[in-house]
Amino acid sequence: MIKFKVVSEFVERKPVYPDRHVWLPHITTAPQGSDEHEKWIRENWWMVNYSVFMDDKPQALQLAQQLDKAFKEDPEHSDIPKILNCLRKLRVKEHVDLDPLEKWTRSAFQLAEYAGGPNVHKTIRKRLSKYSGKVLEAMCGHMSYFHEKPRREVIALDYCQVSLKRYPFPKRHRIECDLNQVTNETRLHFFNENEFDAISVCFGFKYPKDIVSLTKEFRRILKPGGVLSFIENPSHGYEDLCQRKFDNKIVEILESVGYCRLRYDTFSPSEWDNERGRFHHVEAIK
Ligand SMILES: C[S@@+](CC[C@H](N)C(=O)[O-])C[C@H]1O[C@@H](n2cnc3c(N)ncnc32)[C@H](O)[C@@H]1O
Repeated sequence: MIKFKVVSEFVERKPVYPDRHVWLPHITTAPQGSDEHEKWIRENWWMVNYSVFMDDKPQALQLAQQLDKAFKEDPEHSDIPKILNCLRKLRVKEHVDLDPLEKWTRSAFQLAEYAGGPNVHKTIRKRLSKYSGKVLEAMCGHMSYFHEKPRREVIALDYCQVSLKRYPFPKRHRIECDLNQVTNETRLHFFNENEFDAISVCFGFKYPKDIVSLTKEFRRILKPGGVLSFIENPSHGYEDLCQRKFDNKIVEILESVGYCRLRYDTFSPSEWDNERGRFHHVEAIK
């Protein structure tokens, strides 16, 4: 059974950089500037370049002071390995070691602009403004392309809780759910068949593992005549998280799971119209 949670908390929208830097003493007797010192830094980079979460910084600073004191007393001090071990536990993971959700969460804390600047947002909002009735804003992140308007109810869905808590419309129903749980055998059981007039995914197509099952499931919860919309910039994305490219294959995928009347067009939200800056919009009807 697919797991999900309704998010009700709202957190003030301001960019936060959750990591804080702590400089640890260089615990080497090699003279500064010497080759040996350089070598020590290269080999012990993890110790010199040290980040902890903001809340852990006071403890990390205290440990750094203890480390300095112990090293000055005796470079072989028996407390040194113990202190380093405590520090190691406080250390934030390097970006490369984060799992995908942890990566999105870091970006969410910083309120990353996934689409681009305000021009892009405005253009996309305008494009999507025609959708009314019940709309699912899937993989919404911490932004919305849907302003409030009469006869439109927007449901937000993402698997990043930090994003959903910062989603700018706290009164909307916000659902935390990992769409990678959708397979040929599983359903988004908390949504009914024929429930939505529109489902919009902006800058999300490249990330779910099983896009065929997901678009098929989106079709189940769309009303007959409802629209599934994808907006993407094929030249941009988080390469380390992408499961696929955005290209013409999307048409084959959508047709293969039963959508019809596909519309595919491109637009450029900025005055510098070039291929890399062009956005692609695919709409498919159930
Ligand atoms: C590039 S961001 C786009 C966010 C938003 N649509 C925008 O344009 O600002 C992709 C979003 O997809 C969400 N996402 C990625 N994989 C997901 C998954 N398996 N289930 C649900 N959401 C996912 C991420 O948390 C992130 O918020």
